[in-house]
Amino acid sequence: MHPMLNIAVRAARNAGKVIIRSFEQLDKVEIESKGSNDFVTSTDTAAEQAIIETIRNSYPDHTIIGEESGVLTGSNDDYQWIIDPLDGTTNFIKGIPHFAVSIALKVKGKLDQAVIFDPIRGELFTASRGKGAQLNNMRIRVKAHKDLSATILATGFPFKHKQHTKAYMAMFTSLFEKTSDMRRAGSAALDLAYVAAGRVDGFFEIGLKPWDTAAGELLVIEAGGLVTDFTGGHNHTQSGNIVASSTRLLKEILKDIRPHLGEALSK
Ligand code: IPD
Ligand code: CA
Ligand code: CA
Repeated sequence: MHPMLNIAVRAARNAGKVIIRSFEQLDKVEIESKGSNDFVTSTDTAAEQAIIETIRNSYPDHTIIGEESGVLTGSNDDYQWIIDPLDGTTNFIKGIPHFAVSIALKVKGKLDQAVIFDPIRGELFTASRGKGAQLNNMRIRVKAHKDLSATILATGFPFKHKQHTKAYMAMFTSLFEKTSDMRRAGSAALDLAYVAAGRVDGFFEIGLKPWDTAAGELLVIEAGGLVTDFTGGHNHTQSGNIVASSTRLLKEILKDIRPHLGEALSK
């Protein structure tokens, strides 16, 4: 295993311990609102702290971009860690056992290492640039389909950006009519990891943040899939509008998304 992936795994497992401990005592968790339907708990902050400490112990000069801490600039900006300490906070708060820790490392602007860890199931998804993707050390691959029939797509509702409800629902309806079924499980990181593992055939969501998607993007690519924005371009990190699946299916998914792109969604 690449030494930096090894540290990412250690950091994710440390955060996982923090998350599981608090999930067992949910009544003690403090919740604060940071935006419309957007919450941060004492667990998000403590898990992020555990990740930062683990990374800083080995790589004190690297830059860290954390959902809760913002940008912690290191003296070596070639290495950027992008972390979501708890992806699926709404599930966590409600006691729904489906959430994950997501950690990615970019080297000179390119995704290089990725870990998504589901602490409830003990599932560790990992990827290293050019070396494939794994689930608990077993190789995983994106499922290939030529069209949408018999597929299951994962998605997320735009619950933090309700101004996009109409456009989103139009895309959803158009896709739903052609697919076998849809899943809205509540963790974009796990949605992407499940695409990589072939558990779902594709994923799309509006308005995600870099820490939601960085590790998942490398997992999907290393599992043989493709990640784009809603126009088929590579602006998804900026726009937050993301589609992931096998190359062939992605073209089909975009056919149902494109007609519903308004001004805000085509950027
Ligand atoms: C959220 C989850 C959710 C997605 C939201 C994300 P958070 O992340 O990934 O599935 O629909 O858009 O913001 O806030 O739980 O880290
Ligand atoms: Ca997230
Ligand atoms: Ca989060």
